Amino acid sequence: MTQKDSKETVLVVDDSEGTREVIRRNLEGAGYQVLGAPGVPEAIATMKQSPVDLVITDLKMPRVSGMDLVRHVRENYPNTEVMMITGYATVTSAVEAVKVGADEYLSKPFTDGELLGAVRRSLAKLRVRRAGRESGDAVKAPHGLAGESEAMQRVFRAISKAATTVATVLVTGESGTGKELVARAIHYSSVRSTSPFVPVNCGGIPEGLLESELFGYMKGAFTGAAETRAGFFQTAEGGTIFLDEIGETSQSMQVKLLRVLQDKEVCMVGDTRARNVDVRIIAATNKDLLARIKKGAFREDLFFRINVITIAVPPLRERGEDVLLLARRFAQRFAREYEKPTPEFTDRTLEAIRCYSWPGNVRELENLMQRLAVMQEESRIDVSDLPSHMRFAVKQSPDLTRSLAEVEAEYIRNVLSSVGGNKSRAAEVLGIDRKTLRKKLDAVSKPRAE
Ligand SMILES: Nc1ncnc2c1ncn2[C@@H]1O[C@H](COP(=O)(O)OP(=O)(O)OP(=O)(O)O)[C@@H](O)[C@H]1O
Ligand SMILES: [Mg+2]
Repeated sequence: MTQKDSKETVLVVDDSEGTREVIRRNLEGAGYQVLGAPGVPEAIATMKQSPVDLVITDLKMPRVSGMDLVRHVRENYPNTEVMMITGYATVTSAVEAVKVGADEYLSKPFTDGELLGAVRRSLAKLRVRRAGRESGDAVKAPHGLAGESEAMQRVFRAISKAATTVATVLVTGESGTGKELVARAIHYSSVRSTSPFVPVNCGGIPEGLLESELFGYMKGAFTGAAETRAGFFQTAEGGTIFLDEIGETSQSMQVKLLRVLQDKEVCMVGDTRARNVDVRIIAATNKDLLARIKKGAFREDLFFRINVITIAVPPLRERGEDVLLLARRFAQRFAREYEKPTPEFTDRTLEAIRCYSWPGNVRELENLMQRLAVMQEESRIDVSDLPSHMRFAVKQSPDLTRSLAEVEAEYIRNVLSSVGGNKSRAAEVLGIDRKTLRKKLDAVSKPRAE
């Protein structure tokens, strides 16, 4: 911290001048610089003029609610903490305040000690966050995502870029590549990180239930709706909703999602009016959505709404040495978990891991490492410990016991089969005439031609 900002600045927002004064005296006495504002608009104007480290706001104010200020600060000032003061009867508001991004809340009436304690906690959190941001190299693997390949570095850069906006993101990639991890990384590196991240598997919820699960329902909306219940969108208020397998949604659900994206409003099942939601949407698919659009199975307008930022997560086989780095990491993790010795891979094992195509991507690798940790008694892991389909991936080391005639025979058979058994063509490729070819074929015990 530099000398200039060694005095931290607190902005106190309360419509009661008396309350503002009490807090001001208290905090100035503790060495803070204190600014005051009688309402949300004035507070917003003050923040434009001078940097503020912490905003303390009353919830109930005559014109604009303190909740809106919390939201405004969270959206626009990632380097400012917010603390909400609520009346003692409004526990739900306090919960709400934390949900929209208040870092702390204080219930009235509070003592000087409680106020100072809460302020110190908030500012300590802020210092940790700032330090993290400064040392946080943009392309360092974020939030549990490991990878050093250029392909993954591109993904990490896209994540940090996406984290600075509220734009909708479409994450594409084969199954098991880490799409959900990417979505989480965006959320947790954004200003919304203190609000919920709510993953929804659109493909896993029956069509008839999806609407009420997503948007919530009013009491009496349908048989069994004994009380009003929030949906995923309301739960994610202030945060991020992750719509996994968006390609699986029905046409009518697509229309509803389109409306949410356009109007930023959701209508609970059985409600007469739509209500505002402040939720960032990240969608994911392992389907080719453009192909689905062509087939008429996915709405083009929804596609363009979702696809403001696209992050394509590469398959594991395109990440070079990352596969070994991940294998070691998972192996170490599971060894710790199951209290087994850290495994040592033989060269042939490493070769098999590198050559295998990993159709199930990172998830397949993670599962394999788990299985090996469970089964393994000794630390050495040889290629024979791997599943057979992986052993075939190892390039055969040349067998130096075969005769020239055997190698020649195999080569001739391969050429012949590559030209569909056409002997003239094979002879041409081999650079010999047809007669010589026939002689050689006769010598081979099982010619594949004709
Ligand atoms: N780069 C990575 N570093 C570490 N772990 C990873 C990485 N990518 C994925 N994983 C792990 O692999 C598993 C699969 O990841 P995730 O669930 O995010 O994939 P997905 O693309 O959403 O899969 P699906 O399409 O099947 O839903 C998870 O356990 C995740 O933690
Ligand atoms: Mg997933």
